[in-house]
Amino acid sequence: MQAEVKNLMPARLDKGFIKAADGTYTVRPGVRPLVDLKIHNLLTAPPAHGFDLILCRNVVIYFTDDAKATLYDHLVGALRPGGVLFVGGTEMVAAAHQLGFVSIGPSFYRKEAGAEVGPRPRPRLAVGAR
Ligand SMILES: C[S@@+](CC[C@H](N)C(=O)[O-])C[C@H]1O[C@@H](n2cnc3c(N)ncnc32)[C@H](O)[C@@H]1O
Repeated sequence: MQAEVKNLMPARLDKGFIKAADGTYTVRPGVRPLVDLKIHNLLTAPPAHGFDLILCRNVVIYFTDDAKATLYDHLVGALRPGGVLFVGGTEMVAAAHQLGFVSIGPSFYRKEAGAEVGPRPRPRLAVGAR
């Protein structure tokens, strides 16, 4: 787990991890109860709701437009109003506003208040020829 922690500030590293004699890191026991790990297919209904932040980087790169729409629909449903979705630097949430997102900067989208109300029509991508 050395590569995974290489960008953490030393104070944060020390707070959350214990360094073993062989140079590897393990998460401090006090942190573990705060973390709930689950295997989940993002194309099925979200396992929980009310998230403040969802990090979903580079997951949709091989998805069809329909699968992307399904995923983002699930993610907007899983966020609390005002919650934030982070996606990869090369990814854009198509029709973000129709889904209930407001772009707040490169890769960051905020769920608008009221976006969770009722089923939304599936946004379609406009494909045009030059
Ligand atoms: C290109 S990797 C990106 C990994 C990591 N997020 C990153 O940015 O380095 C794509 C990831 O999406 C996950 N993924 C693809 N389809 C998924 C699905 N339907 N549900 C959950 N995860 C999925 C894959 O398991 C893989 O870990």
